[in-house]
Order: sequence, then structure tokens, then C-alpha cells
Amino acid sequence: MTFFLIDNDMTKISPPSIIALDGPAASGKSTLGNKLANSLGYLFFDTGIMYRAITWIALQHDMDLRNEVMITELAQKAQIDIRPPSKNDGRPCDVLIGDKDVTWDMRGGDVDANVSVVSAYAGVRKALSEQQRRIGLRGKVVMVGRDIGTVVLPEADLKVYLDASAEERARRRYDELIARGEKSNYEEILKKVIERDRIDSTRAVAPLRPADDAIIIDSDQMDAEQVFVRVLELCK
Ligand code: CDP
Repeated sequence: MTFFLIDNDMTKISPPSIIALDGPAASGKSTLGNKLANSLGYLFFDTGIMYRAITWIALQHDMDLRNEVMITELAQKAQIDIRPPSKNDGRPCDVLIGDKDVTWDMRGGDVDANVSVVSAYAGVRKALSEQQRRIGLRGKVVMVGRDIGTVVLPEADLKVYLDASAEERARRRYDELIARGEKSNYEEILKKVIERDRIDSTRAVAPLRPADDAIIIDSDQMDAEQVFVRVLELCK
């Protein structure tokens, strides 16, 4: 693992070019990744968006999510477009499928409850992680997901695994939903977070786990700013 990339004149130290940020559901990866990318002038790429988009399309078309062949074909063909944010409503980017803005639809309870089934399919992972790798290898990127440091970009210059207890993560997700004006139930959210973690970490292909060379940060006792400062220090 390379922490420091020394410029040719050996006087300047550049931050790591490929930053992999993995961790369980609602551990704060997106908030951290977005902030980090902004401050470094890097691309922020939240790979969960791709798995969510496939799940959203399948649900819209009443597809049987247990039909691995059909869902894999969908992942191979789907045109997911990610653009700079068109609204100032907390979104890090616009997500478009065709010309429909699905940025918040993809964060809905239906998608949350089903995305781990879709993302466990080997063919779906192959189709999406090839695209993620191609984009990530261009560098100057903060890539967020579950398997970035282990599978998608094992050569990443800095790998961070952001963790927190299920209770703390459920509380954060609950606050997020309430802030967006959505109805929410903490106990329900906690159950779903635990179930999603279980499926994500026990699947056969690219299970959620820290890479051997990842720096693990437990954020239970840290707020978003403290986590950001800690990772920024690692970048230096
Ligand atoms: O924001 P949150 O942490 O709740 O989820 P997300 O990052 O949007 O990811 C949604 C789901 O996509 C996860 O629960 C995983 O099942 C899947 N995922 C994955 O398998 N691999 C990735 N690199 C990113 C997401």
C-alpha cells in the first residue's frame, strides 16, 4: 500500500490518488466520501448507487428479484447516468435512469429492503464492478462501497473501513429520514440495517469485510467532522 506519492521534484507530497472507503450500511461513508472528495478536488463515486439503481428498476418493472438470470441481464444493459447535483436538497449528485430523476427514490425503504439480494448475484457484481474499476483507475477518486479495497480496486493508495455499531448506524439513518421529512421507525430501521449487514457480509462473492491493509475507524464516539479530520490526516 502506498500512502505517499512523491512528485518528481521530491519536494511536494501529494495525497493518495485512489481512496477506497468501505463499511457497513449507514456508517457515514457517503458523508465522509463526499466531503473528502470536495476538499481534495477528487471525483466522489458512491458505488452503492449502481446496486440501488438496478434494484429500483427491477422493482418498478415488477421483476422477480429471485430470478438471477433476468436481474443479471438488467445489470448488463441498464443505462445509469450520474450527473452533478441539479438541486440543493442534500444530494451529492443526480441519478438518472432514462430521463427520470431517481435520486431519492433509490433511497426508499423498498430499495433498502431488497438491494442486498440483488447485489449478492455474481453476474450483477461482475457487470457493475468492471465499470467501477474502469472509472476508479483514472485516479483522483474517492470510491465508496463494500468491496472497493478488497475486490474493485485492491491497489488503492489508501483504504479506510468505516465502522459503527448497528444501533448508532440505525440512529443516524433515522435522523436522516426525519430530516428529509419522511416517516420513520427506529426499531424497524435497526432490524433492516442488521439484516442488510448479514446478507452483505455472508454472501459468497465479494462479502463485506475490511481489506487486510485497511485502516479501520470505529465512528461510534465520533461525529462526521471528527471522522473527516482523521481521514484527512491519513491522506497527508
Ligand atoms: O448508504 P448505505 O450504506 O445504506 O448503502 P449503499 O452504500 O447505498 O449500498 C446499498 C447496498 O448495495 C449495500 O447494502 C450492498 O448490498 C450493495 N453494495 C455492494 O454490494 N457493493 C458495493 N460496492 C456497494 C454497495
